[in-house]
Amino acid sequence: MSDSPVSDSAVSGSPVSDCPVPEGNSVTIDLAALPEGFLWGTATSAYQIEGAVAEDGRSPSIWDTFSHTPGKIDNDDHGDVACDHYHRWREDIELMRQLATNAYRLSIAWPRVLPGGDGPVNAKGLDFYDALVDGLLDAGIAPSVTLYHWDLPQVLQDRGGWPVRDTAHHLASYAAVVAERLGDRVHHWTTLNEPLCSAWIGHLEGQMAPGLTDLSAAVRASYHLLLGHGLAAQAIRAAAPGAQVGIVNNLSVVEAATERPEDIAAARRLDGHTNRWWLDPVHGRDFPEDMREVYGVELPEKPGDLETIAQPLDWLGLNYYFSSTVADDPTGPAPRVRTVRRPGAPRTGMNWEIDASGMESLLLRLTHDYDARKLYVTENGSAYPDVVRPDGTVNDPERQEYLISHLAACASAARKGAPLAGYFAWSLLDNFEWAYGYDKRFGLVHVDYRTQVRTIKGSGYRYADIIRTHTARSRSAA
Ligand code: FCB
Repeated sequence: MSDSPVSDSAVSGSPVSDCPVPEGNSVTIDLAALPEGFLWGTATSAYQIEGAVAEDGRSPSIWDTFSHTPGKIDNDDHGDVACDHYHRWREDIELMRQLATNAYRLSIAWPRVLPGGDGPVNAKGLDFYDALVDGLLDAGIAPSVTLYHWDLPQVLQDRGGWPVRDTAHHLASYAAVVAERLGDRVHHWTTLNEPLCSAWIGHLEGQMAPGLTDLSAAVRASYHLLLGHGLAAQAIRAAAPGAQVGIVNNLSVVEAATERPEDIAAARRLDGHTNRWWLDPVHGRDFPEDMREVYGVELPEKPGDLETIAQPLDWLGLNYYFSSTVADDPTGPAPRVRTVRRPGAPRTGMNWEIDASGMESLLLRLTHDYDARKLYVTENGSAYPDVVRPDGTVNDPERQEYLISHLAACASAARKGAPLAGYFAWSLLDNFEWAYGYDKRFGLVHVDYRTQVRTIKGSGYRYADIIRTHTARSRSAA
């Protein structure tokens, strides 16, 4: 059965009615397909929101270094203050309550907890997350903790970073420290967020920290990230028995621009680069042979590594934003593809192509090809240039439409058998969008960076409305 995305009674008095979904939007969300106990969350990451980069013993991360390198970030923005969440987290939990969410995906800043990368623990760093977790639990919001969302301590970069094997072991030691402290209250753990971005965008394309353009370093980084994932999964489970451990990948549906064999082969390569390279090894299938050939870089393999990488997973996380259409680019860098714009395809403010059906097919691919036991959409969202109107509201019909169409795709995948257990909207707040700085606003809540005033956008109220409708439906079905 289908539900209207908006229930008349659920959020009476909220500004939802001021923020209509654009005319002609006829998408409905089959909320009945989403199970009871579904996690309805928002997501953020430490460097993007916390600020307070030099407070309470935190050391610099590679993102502090990168963002302070002139020319790397739009407007030369950086995360020094960001959303000042380090000081405003109580207010931010209150916003989560107003959004009716029952889960929150946060990341821990490794350089806050272990300023030396390994070795002595910074008590104040751990205390911050300890209090945050307690605050979330008091508000009835389940914390989902990501250990590594790209902010490697700079000291470890200085010792070689992800291209060296030791970094994988350091990740595991750090995981053990955090899980020992929080594991009695946090049950949901992510080792890595989007290792693809760390390896490919950070070491091959150079647009993210540490900003290298070195294929060999990138391939070695990818290997050690996955090895670190396996070691960290073991460490979390040893420190917090019963922990639910997963990994979060940003996957994409890849289409060939034409039926030319060269373009079909290019699409297969991008599928390998984006999807299979990250999924196959953690499922015990080895690194894809075709991609080993494409990269032509010897992997730093040691006996037993593949078993370590393929730790059993309690769940898989999908971050989904767009689909890709590609053509062959014989002279380009690996994987020798070029993205092709599909004429007329709708795009977000990031210029990313909107294709909710891609999310449904990826959820089903993870279900059928990788036998996922449990799935979460750990990020999904859209950036638009929002403004606060004179009446104090933020009307974002395009984001609402994006949200609704993607939730409809989630429900459709669940209806077809995907074991989907939760959805985390990216993002709770507008925040530091990496190389794009502060101009790209993904939040369900608008942030005025001058005053730090937060304003729930129309999409935030819409999300609350959907969540309340689902919760009421689950209660009445029980
Ligand atoms: C993902 C990142 C997240 C955010 C969104 C827009 O790739 O995990 O931090 O930047 O994109």
